[in-house]
Amino acid sequence: MELPHHEDVSPGTGSLPPRAWYATSDAAAFSLNGPWRFRLSPTPDAEDEAFAADGYDSTAWDDITVPGHWVLQGHGAPHYTNQLYPFPLDAPRVPTENPTGDHLHTFDLPAAWPREGAAVLRFDGVDSCARVWLNGTELGDFKGSRLAHEFAVGELLRPTGNVLAVRVHQWSAGSYLEDQDQWWLPGIFRDVTLLHRPAGSAGDFFVHAAYDHRAGTGTLRVDAGTAGRVTVPALGIDVPTSRSVTVPVEPWTAETPRLYDAVLATPGERIPLRVGFRTVAVEDGVITVNGRPVLFRGVNRHEFHPETGRALAPDTMRADVLLMKRHNINAVRTSHYPPHPAFLDLCDELGLWVIDECDLETHGFQAVGWRGNPVDDDRWTPALLDRAARMVERDKNHASVIMWSLGNECGTGRGLTAMADWIRARDAGRLLHYEGDRSCADTDVYSRMYADHAEVERIGRGEDEGPRRRAGLPFLLCEYAHAMGNGPGGLGAYQRLFETYERLQGGFVWEWIDHGIAHPAYGYAYGGDFGEEPHDGNFVCDGLLFPDRTPSPGLVEYKKVIEPVRIEGDGRAGTVAVTNLHDFAGLAHLAFTWSYDQDGVPVADGVLAVPPVGPGGRAEVKLPPPPPHGPDTETQWTVRAVLADATAWAPRGHVVAWAQLPAGDGRTRPVPDGAAAPRTADGHRLTLGPAAFDARTGDLLALGDRAITGLRLDVWRAPTDNDNGMPWRPEPSVAARWRALGLHRMRHRVDAVEPTADGLTVRTRVAPAASDLALRTEYRWTSDGDRLTLRLSVTPEGDWTQPLPRLGISFGLPGGADRVRWFGGGPGEAYPDTATASLLGVWESDVDALQTPYVRPQENGARPGIRWAELGGLRIESADRPWLTARRWTTHQLDAAAHRTDLTPGDTVWVTLDAGQHGIGTNSCGPGVLPQYALHPRPTTLRCVFAPAGG
Ligand code: GAL
Repeated sequence: MELPHHEDVSPGTGSLPPRAWYATSDAAAFSLNGPWRFRLSPTPDAEDEAFAADGYDSTAWDDITVPGHWVLQGHGAPHYTNQLYPFPLDAPRVPTENPTGDHLHTFDLPAAWPREGAAVLRFDGVDSCARVWLNGTELGDFKGSRLAHEFAVGELLRPTGNVLAVRVHQWSAGSYLEDQDQWWLPGIFRDVTLLHRPAGSAGDFFVHAAYDHRAGTGTLRVDAGTAGRVTVPALGIDVPTSRSVTVPVEPWTAETPRLYDAVLATPGERIPLRVGFRTVAVEDGVITVNGRPVLFRGVNRHEFHPETGRALAPDTMRADVLLMKRHNINAVRTSHYPPHPAFLDLCDELGLWVIDECDLETHGFQAVGWRGNPVDDDRWTPALLDRAARMVERDKNHASVIMWSLGNECGTGRGLTAMADWIRARDAGRLLHYEGDRSCADTDVYSRMYADHAEVERIGRGEDEGPRRRAGLPFLLCEYAHAMGNGPGGLGAYQRLFETYERLQGGFVWEWIDHGIAHPAYGYAYGGDFGEEPHDGNFVCDGLLFPDRTPSPGLVEYKKVIEPVRIEGDGRAGTVAVTNLHDFAGLAHLAFTWSYDQDGVPVADGVLAVPPVGPGGRAEVKLPPPPPHGPDTETQWTVRAVLADATAWAPRGHVVAWAQLPAGDGRTRPVPDGAAAPRTADGHRLTLGPAAFDARTGDLLALGDRAITGLRLDVWRAPTDNDNGMPWRPEPSVAARWRALGLHRMRHRVDAVEPTADGLTVRTRVAPAASDLALRTEYRWTSDGDRLTLRLSVTPEGDWTQPLPRLGISFGLPGGADRVRWFGGGPGEAYPDTATASLLGVWESDVDALQTPYVRPQENGARPGIRWAELGGLRIESADRPWLTARRWTTHQLDAAAHRTDLTPGDTVWVTLDAGQHGIGTNSCGPGVLPQYALHPRPTTLRCVFAPAGG
């Protein structure tokens, strides 16, 4: 049986050979983006191809915006799966139920369109395949959704009334090669452009621009399909194409992205070029650029926008690069396909190392033991080679691209080797990456994903077993620190390993942005929200940015962990050590400032003179003498490295790195002890200083005129995505173990309510049903007449084998507790293993702004190290520096919510004060909480002093 185009393994027919992509030249270009006519059919054959004929009447059709996905424009719905194909595995066949979008666009040529010369029609991205007609003539068809395809169209064009017809199927044989973990979003989602090709235009061209770090020279050679000249005015270069020229230059690096403006002029075309000179190599088992080892502080970036999916406006691409640069990120893996080429222009211009990945993933074949995997089946090799060539040819002139990646999660096979061989032959100037083959037969680097800290350390030490070839290769984590929901935890421990072992050249956090789709009922939708089956739920929301591109606490943490300058020191001795962790840059672009804080409030500040420090170097400097302060004052220095001048990516004063150094003796204020005696008031009320209790239950009822509800021991938190772990793993996650134990429904038995001469003691036993484990909990209340002191002590009983989610108290305050002020860590949330970026100070927020808007609600919003906090008319002080959260819903409501819109504020603000929190880890895809951050039950005390605020 002959299969239709969209179901055959071939990459397509009729398109031109791939060539370099460039944004502009002096040849005419005409964008065909905009409103098109559109018709959706449920199957490929529901409508014939008559629409492609000249004169077809499409008045009954709808409008659609190109670039765009039809499922995000009111036709059909998105579908999310991670590894599974959403259709039966029967490659290359696809279902008959195959939504098919017919697109029509009528256009006139601009008045200035040249009469002479050829023209090509370029599609920058169509998912999953396209068949194309112009003015009734079929041009051909193609697959390879995130790759450019061009057709020669010159002789078909007419001045007015051109009709471009494109038939797009959601599913094609190509879909088997595009099983990336993301929404399935069909459509013409990147630009469509008509390009004039004058006689003597450049054709394909390849800019080779190497840097010799010993000589300080760059060597330039531009090979072009049509001979011409290359000029680089700033370097005095004016040479014919194909001729090498060597001159002194400033090199390009991600830290110092020096680009030279150049022009490639052929008889028919002038193309502006931006040339960056750099040389990438592996030397002695280490990746070097321009002779120096590099450390990747990377992220994996999918193209995503909550309204337009993978159709990204130029501003969105720029926003991504600016956000990366401002968060100290220096590298991006274009997971898992070549991005819009304009993104790579931005990486060249602003400075990011890029691993450019081919549009290839066959992960779903793992479900059948990789049986029939296209990358190990020669019939598919032409399609694989086509994809490799389209990536390399399109993107080869970007200085930022230093590695080609064959694809992601395809298992192993001959097709991958064929791709690698082709790429090496075409471009010897870059390294090859592929994670899925542990033999590293085809690669220049040993790459892994989600390896835990211990294994990464073994690899760093060279103690891992493995094929000989692999042992000599540099190592990177192409994915780690799964940023799903609250987290990732444990970043700092990875960074220490990367900075310790030369072979470990850093990693790429998974991933850049949550793919939550804007949704009227849910806020942001995730897998299953469109009724689709099968799906993988909110696994698609695992980014460092929320869908609207606001940075999550995880990004703030990552920025701190990967600071390119380390500031350490001894605040008491007044010394600061500054280490330059850049690979290339000095510190001249930075200014250093200090401030001196008393009880979290800056009382003096100034500039710190730091001598020049080259990459890898370190300098010690002295702080000024501290201003005087009274006893019991907590003092510290805050030292910051800020941009001395505006750069292309951030304003002057932007903070790059910082540290806080305690300046005092670390003593905290004593807890006031009580003298007041409890008094029995009316009925069953008992008063103690400003507080009222229920004399029978020992419940705290009020403090001054503030009612207090339900104050008691609390161990539950709404499990985070990392607590929930990986659903496909057989072993139960920590959240499953907590629930099995019943920690979400602890029972509280009151054993004694004992008024004494100087206070009130309430003894309780807090325990889960059906278990003999318990937490013996004593509340010891005292008062000095004005303030109420709680000494909570918890003693575990029984053989506890699991950590606790949290350990502290929670209570309710009547509504209206809007403003919160605190002296502690801030401004954002922190947990034991995500607290690096927490800045000690006095902060203010309202309760709503304390919530971190994870797309799937879960534990969030804790502020660490609370010295004091004021909210709802209460002032709380603690020498034990507890964690604070405040919310307008209970933990159980938070636990039950599936979307943010499920959370409706009640009239109580629920406050928790925790002596301990379990860490976060990154077990949603990766290792769990490191042992030092686990909250194992042990005897614990927590002292808090409550007073009416202002009292
Ligand atoms: C990796 C994969 C990514 C993504 C991630 C988990 O295995 O390469 O595409 O699925 O896991 O979010």
